[in-house]
Amino acid sequence: MCGIVGYIGHRDAYPVILKGLQRLEYRGYDSAGIALYDGLEIKLSKTKGKVADLELKFSQQIEPKGSLGIGHTRWATHGIPNDTNSHPHFSNSGDLVIIHNGIIENYEALKQELIKRGYHFSSDTDTEVLINLIEDIQKNNGLKLGKAVQVALNQVIGAYAIAVFDIKKPNEIVAARLGSPLAIGVGEGEFFIASDASPFLEYTNNAVYLEDEEMAIISLHNPLNIRKIKDDRLVSPYVQELKINLEQIEKGGYDHFMLKEIFEQPHAIKDTYRGRLLTDEGIIKMAGIEDHMAKFLNANRIIIVACGTSWHAGLVAEYIIEELVRVPVEVEYASEFRYRNPVIDNSDVVIAISQSGETADTLAAIKLAKEKGAFVFGVCNVVGSSISRETDAGAYTHAGPEIGVASTKAFTTQITVLTLIALRLAKAKGTISNTDFRAHLVELEMIPKKVEEVLKSETLTKEIAAIYKDVSNFLYLGRGFNFPVALEGALKLKEISYIHAEGYPAAEMKHGPIALIDENMPIAVIATKYGHYEKVVSNIQEIKSRKGKIIAVVTKGDTQVKGIADHVIEIPETIELLSPLLTTIPLQLLSYHIAVMLDKNVDQPRNLAKSVTVE
Ligand code: F6R
Repeated sequence: MCGIVGYIGHRDAYPVILKGLQRLEYRGYDSAGIALYDGLEIKLSKTKGKVADLELKFSQQIEPKGSLGIGHTRWATHGIPNDTNSHPHFSNSGDLVIIHNGIIENYEALKQELIKRGYHFSSDTDTEVLINLIEDIQKNNGLKLGKAVQVALNQVIGAYAIAVFDIKKPNEIVAARLGSPLAIGVGEGEFFIASDASPFLEYTNNAVYLEDEEMAIISLHNPLNIRKIKDDRLVSPYVQELKINLEQIEKGGYDHFMLKEIFEQPHAIKDTYRGRLLTDEGIIKMAGIEDHMAKFLNANRIIIVACGTSWHAGLVAEYIIEELVRVPVEVEYASEFRYRNPVIDNSDVVIAISQSGETADTLAAIKLAKEKGAFVFGVCNVVGSSISRETDAGAYTHAGPEIGVASTKAFTTQITVLTLIALRLAKAKGTISNTDFRAHLVELEMIPKKVEEVLKSETLTKEIAAIYKDVSNFLYLGRGFNFPVALEGALKLKEISYIHAEGYPAAEMKHGPIALIDENMPIAVIATKYGHYEKVVSNIQEIKSRKGKIIAVVTKGDTQVKGIADHVIEIPETIELLSPLLTTIPLQLLSYHIAVMLDKNVDQPRNLAKSVTVE
C-alpha cells in the first residue's frame, strides 16, 4: 500500500509534501519520511511512526528547505517498520533517492547480484534494491536517469508506483507505475506526484493518471514526457480536470472521518442514484448496463468478486439479484478466486466490487476472469482507478472520497448501485411486475430520509457502547438479506476496536456459536419484521435463556423483541431487500463509539490500510 508524494516547482516542497502525506496516511501509517533537495544536498528525515512523528523529527533536526522533494508514508511489506526501513531510500553513491509503493517480488535475486558487484544494503527493503539496480544500470551504461529507470523496471517482477530523483539533475523527477496508482498534478511551472489527487487539490485541478507500465519524466524545462516502460513508445498525456474539492477530503467538524462518512450516507446514497433512479418516469437508467444488456440477460450466472466490506456488499447483492432477477449468483473472495482455477467462461458475467478500485486481489481476479472470456463489470468508488479501467464496463458509486480506513458509506452506496442494477435487469427480464418495480423505485428514493432517521439513534448507540466497551467478544446475528450485515457489523467492530467479533446467520448459532453464550457475551441481532422474524425471535429467546445480552435492531413499533432484548434500536419500515441500507447504520455507530471510548485510532486502525495494493 503506502502513500507517495513528490513535488518539483517554485514552492517550498516541505509543506506541500508533509500535508500531502497527512492526506495519504490512510494508505499506510507505520513509518514516514521525506527527502528534500535544497540546491546543495539532499536533506533526509525518516522515522517509524506517523507523519506527525516525522514532522516533529524534522522540526528538531533539519531546516526543511528546497523546492524539490519526495515523501512516503509506509505500510510495511519487506522489513519491519523502523527508521531504517522507512522511505525514501538512497542509492549507494547517495546520488539517487526513491520512494516506492508496492512489492518487488524478485528483489532477493537482484540483491544477490548487486551484492556480488559490491553494493551494500542498510535496510531490509525491496526498494533499496531497486534504487541500487537503477544506479548500477546508470553507471555501467552512462544512461540518463529516465532511461536507467526504464531498463531497471524491465528487470523487475512485481508492483510499483515510484518516484526517483538524481542529485546530479535536480530539475527532474522520474515516476512510474505498475499495479499501484500514481497521479501527476500539473500546475503552472510545477508538478506534483501522488498516490491519489488529494495532496495537490489546493494547487491544481489538472491531473494525469499514469496507466500500468507507464513512466513519466517530469521536468521543469520540458513538456511532460510519458512513455511505455516495455517498448519506449511515447504516450500523449491525457490531462483530466478533477471534480473533487478540498472540503470533501477534510473532516468538516467531525472528530473522525469515519463519523463524518457515516453521517454522509443519506447524501452519498442520493448521489449514487441521482440521474439513474427516475421515479417519475418509472425507469432506471444506467449507461453501463444499457450498453451491455444482452451480456447480462444472456448470462448463465453472475459471479461477484471482492474483498472485505465490498465482499459483504456482494453477499447482500447475491440475495437481491437472485430474488429480483432469478439468475444464479456466486460471491467469491477475490483472493481465493484468483488462485483456484475457477470454472468460468464467456457465458458468465463477473461483477467486481471495490471502493478504492485498487485492491490487488480484486484486480487480479478481474484479469483472470477476462482471460477466461467472461464479461467483467466494475462497481468502484474512485473515479479513474485501476479497476474502473480494467473492467469492460461499470458503474461508479459516487460516494465521494472515503478516508476512514473502515468502510461505511462505501458499503451502503455499493448496495445502492447493485440494487439499481438488479432492478434494471429484473425489469428487462420481466421477473418483476410493473407495480413492484415502481414500489421499489419509490422506496429506494426514500432511503436517504430513512437513513437520516436511523442516524438519530446515535445517542442510544453511544449509551450501549459505554455498557459493552470492555468486553472481549461480540456476536452478530442476522438472516436473509441481513446475514451479510451481521458479518459487516462484526468486521467493523474488530477492525477499529480490536474486540474479537463474529458474524453468523442467526439459525447457525445452534450449530456451534451458542456454546460461547453466557452472561458476558453481547449479541447484536438484526430482528427486523420480515420473513424470518419469528425464527429470529426464537433465536433471541435461546440466547436469553443462556443469559446472553441482546442488542436488537428492530423495525419501528416492534413490541415482541422489545419485551425480551436488553437494548433495542429501531429502524423505519422499508421493503425487506432494502433493509440492509438501514440496519447497518446502528452497527457502524456502535463500533465507532466503542472504539472511541477505548481510545483507539478510529480512522487509522493498527495494521490496516485503506487501499490494499499488495496481495
Ligand atoms: C473494511 C475495509 C476493507 C475493504 C477491503 C476492500 O472496513 O475497508 O475490508 O473493504 O480492503 O477494499 P476495496 O473496497 O477498496 O476493494
